[in-house]
Amino acid sequence: MKVVVQKSRPNGSTSVAMATSGEKQSSDNMISLGWKFLNKETFGNGERANYVNSPHVIAMVGLPARGKTYISKKLSRYLNWIGINTKVFNLGEYRRHATDAYRSHEFFRPDNEEAMAIRQHCAELALEDVCNWLENGGEVAVFDATNSTRDRRQMIREIVVKKMGYKLFFVESICDDPSIIEQNIMEVKVSSPDYRNMNMDEALSDFRLRIEHYQERYEPLSEELEKDLSYMKIYNTGEKVVVHKHEGHIQSRIVYYLMNIHITPRTIYLTRHGESEHNLQGLIGGDSNLSERGRRYAQALAKYIDEQQIEGLRVWTSWLKRTIQTVADVNAPQERWKALNEIDAGICEEMTYEDIQQRFPEEFKARDQNKFAYRYPRGESYEDLVVRLEPVMMELERQGNVLVVSHQAVLRCVLAYFLDKTADELPYLKVPLHTIIKLTPVAYGCKVEHIMLPIHAVDTHRAKPENELDLDDSFDSTAGGSPPNGKQIALNGSNGECRFFPNSS
Ligand code: SIN
Repeated sequence: MKVVVQKSRPNGSTSVAMATSGEKQSSDNMISLGWKFLNKETFGNGERANYVNSPHVIAMVGLPARGKTYISKKLSRYLNWIGINTKVFNLGEYRRHATDAYRSHEFFRPDNEEAMAIRQHCAELALEDVCNWLENGGEVAVFDATNSTRDRRQMIREIVVKKMGYKLFFVESICDDPSIIEQNIMEVKVSSPDYRNMNMDEALSDFRLRIEHYQERYEPLSEELEKDLSYMKIYNTGEKVVVHKHEGHIQSRIVYYLMNIHITPRTIYLTRHGESEHNLQGLIGGDSNLSERGRRYAQALAKYIDEQQIEGLRVWTSWLKRTIQTVADVNAPQERWKALNEIDAGICEEMTYEDIQQRFPEEFKARDQNKFAYRYPRGESYEDLVVRLEPVMMELERQGNVLVVSHQAVLRCVLAYFLDKTADELPYLKVPLHTIIKLTPVAYGCKVEHIMLPIHAVDTHRAKPENELDLDDSFDSTAGGSPPNGKQIALNGSNGECRFFPNSS
């Protein structure tokens, strides 16, 4: 078998020696840890272990097709959403870059010494990248690999804990339910780049043999033999969870999060309340009633939901009148969440953007300069909203089919979580009135559909100003910005489909 080791990595960069004995790789002498900046002068040789906010490596463990990549990506999305800079390093990608086209499961035989050497080299390269990334501002690196032997885990510990002084937490996914394994293989494995040149049956049988090769040497994390390691074990996608010696806040949050997620198929429907009286006047915030068109949307929404026959649907609204009125006719159990209330605009509540610009021009400008972090005086920022929404998202993860009826800023945060949007993108996501956003989890992501019910409404979206000049010029009142009658609002930046439903009101 011909295998080629290349210098390049999946991200296109070339090999860089790892920092040892306090050598620093970066010209930047400061690293960001949990929004703080610490001097890294003395880091290396494990000295970082003295810092409370140590970078973390989360190393996955488990046989192929046990959902490691799913967990890695989902965990990374969650941690980034709550403001912890997280990145996944997938060992399969390093192996693909280091070798020519994938031929067969033979590569993974434990007695294939040449391939074993390449796999070891790839693991070292990936760990080097993990450490370089953490040295330069990363906070949590997720090492997505099988890490299925004690030797491999020992090597990771030597580098991550002993040499670099980072915290290390293993997450093992154990699954003996053949239907879950089969579902995983069918959903993601047969479409892997490894199987580009094989038909489905060939890919399936090759992948099963690959699993058998790993099984020959697999050593699950052992309480007796690896008693010093911090880890959690997840059995059959969350049926049972075992946590061993977890350390600190970040690991506790990871455990809590991974205990709450599930893979049962379901759909989440998001919609803003129907158009309100305040929307018509361009006023932000407040607690006004629905407009006449808003009431028509409420009826159309109830009809749409009824037609879908959604099993076990639950309806969540905020405490504000406009969301409660929107679901008045929806026939499903309802729950009110104060945490779903619209962003608190503080001293700007119930003002138009023109009023704000005139009365508080500096505030108006500041908000455009960093909309995610900007906090309305005596009110909230988008960053605050994410914190407020975390328990809602945790509960949403636990649920089946849910219709969430909330507000523009809140739903931007919810969408950013599901669609993995950055803090910069989040405050500008488009969440038009009278539109249902349907989210269906698929493989490693989410399918998005926009269903616009044909009831005209004002357009409350303000685009991101392009430059400093635009901060003053681009002002666009919420009122009067409505699209011409019957015209659909273009939804840029979403990766989903747009569907138009004929008038159902
Ligand atoms: C792979 O090469 O696809 C994965 C390697 C591993 O994690 O064992």
